[in-house]
Amino acid sequence: MKKKDRAPKYLPTKKNYVLPTEGISDRLLYEQIASYKQQDEARWKDGQVSGGIYHGGEDHLALQNHALSMFSISNPLHGDVWPSIVKMEAEIISMTANLVNGGELSVCGAITSGGTESIIMSVKAHRTWAEAQGITEPEIIGCLSSHAGLDKACDMLKVKLIKVPFDLETCEMLVNEVAKHITRNTIMVYSSAPNYPHGIIDPIKALSDLVMEQPFNRPIGLHVDCCLGGFFLPFARKLRDNIPPFDFALPGVTAMSCDTHKYGYAAKGTSVVLYRNSALRNYQFFAYPKWTGGMYVTPTTAGSRPGALSAACWCSMMSLGEAGYLRATERILCTTEKIADCIRNSPGLFVLGSPKAMIVAFGSKDFNIYAFSDEMSKRGFGMSPCQSPPCVHLCVTLRHCNVVDEIIFALQNVAKQMLANPNIGKDANVAVYGASSSSSSSNSNDKNRSSASNQDPRTSGMLRYMSKTLDMPYDQKYRPKPKKTKKSKL
Ligand SMILES: Cc1ncc(COP(=O)(O)O)c(C=O)c1O
Repeated sequence: MKKKDRAPKYLPTKKNYVLPTEGISDRLLYEQIASYKQQDEARWKDGQVSGGIYHGGEDHLALQNHALSMFSISNPLHGDVWPSIVKMEAEIISMTANLVNGGELSVCGAITSGGTESIIMSVKAHRTWAEAQGITEPEIIGCLSSHAGLDKACDMLKVKLIKVPFDLETCEMLVNEVAKHITRNTIMVYSSAPNYPHGIIDPIKALSDLVMEQPFNRPIGLHVDCCLGGFFLPFARKLRDNIPPFDFALPGVTAMSCDTHKYGYAAKGTSVVLYRNSALRNYQFFAYPKWTGGMYVTPTTAGSRPGALSAACWCSMMSLGEAGYLRATERILCTTEKIADCIRNSPGLFVLGSPKAMIVAFGSKDFNIYAFSDEMSKRGFGMSPCQSPPCVHLCVTLRHCNVVDEIIFALQNVAKQMLANPNIGKDANVAVYGASSSSSSSNSNDKNRSSASNQDPRTSGMLRYMSKTLDMPYDQKYRPKPKKTKKSKL
């Protein structure tokens, strides 16, 4: 068969920057979105991206889609109209709290749209709580490896963020550095279990001990970013004996973020933020009782929210149950351990720290690790490029488990190829977060966009990313031509 005949046929893609004059028929729209779906699936279905798609099984997806369609009209802002959504949300929060040793305690929480919003909410709650105690210039201590969602939260909420380094061997947040930076204004220490860049669990017990000491005779919060670990570590600790304590069992932990849309295997768009007690959670809420539109009270940043996502999330948790999560975690742990061993034994590569969860980060002293990552992408295995120090990571999901031998084969071969020719892609640079190929391997057609791109090689990649996301402003040729209108008489 000729290559041409095998290529999938997609419908032509037209740019729609203004509303169609007349509505398009449902039949054409069904066809068009089917074609879009097919085009996007071609980018991930035959290969493995790092993280991103955590389950991907057809039956699980069908259940998620069914739940989404059943409740697509629902909005938990109007809980009186959708009491079933309210019930499902309460159960999601309670089931999550139980997983992280919060069940026996007064731990409570809220559903947000994802990890970033959970982090923003926790910063908001701690900030307002501290404000009530007279702290007007709040500070948070994070780590250089903390997720950038923390930077975003502090930027939005005007909290000073101090970042301490991690140990270069273990990649764990340095507790003595945290201790050095605690001041009267410290409202929270931010830890990760595990962190995104290196997949390492911070020394949360030591951090809990530190905040419990109350160096300035006032309480300090401790947030555990368990966005990756929330639905993984509770099961991993039942399967392995090397998982350190990371949750509400530690008395200093005041809040946790646990993403249902990652290893909870729910459709994208939900996370759970948990607090040690309702007093702290209440500081998260916003209430404006005097609004002319009535009393306005919302738990999170959103007003209206998609109840369908909560229904799908609830179905995911109920369908997997404890046994399902245990099975999934065991498979991912085995796959991660095999991949970490392979990397440790591959000349030219080294593993960062001792990963105990689902992410293996690795680098090279012999060749450009981003070029290595590009070569892996060409073989269908996406890696996530990270920086300072230069490394890439593989975030193992269920989709990697059936192809572990192929991944190992590719890792070994690419390492050999790079060692034999270390000049391959020697100028490759880190890509934008979430993109799997390095910035020098993409087409560069944005030379004139910003003089800043001359200063920092990453800026051009960032601009390219933004212009792809927000496509319209750059591409004048696709903008509708202004219609000739008759001159106004005025
Ligand atoms: C450790 C960690 N925290 C927070 C986030 C942010 O989550 P989201 O992308 O759902 O906002 C991520 C995302 O990968 C993460 O890995």
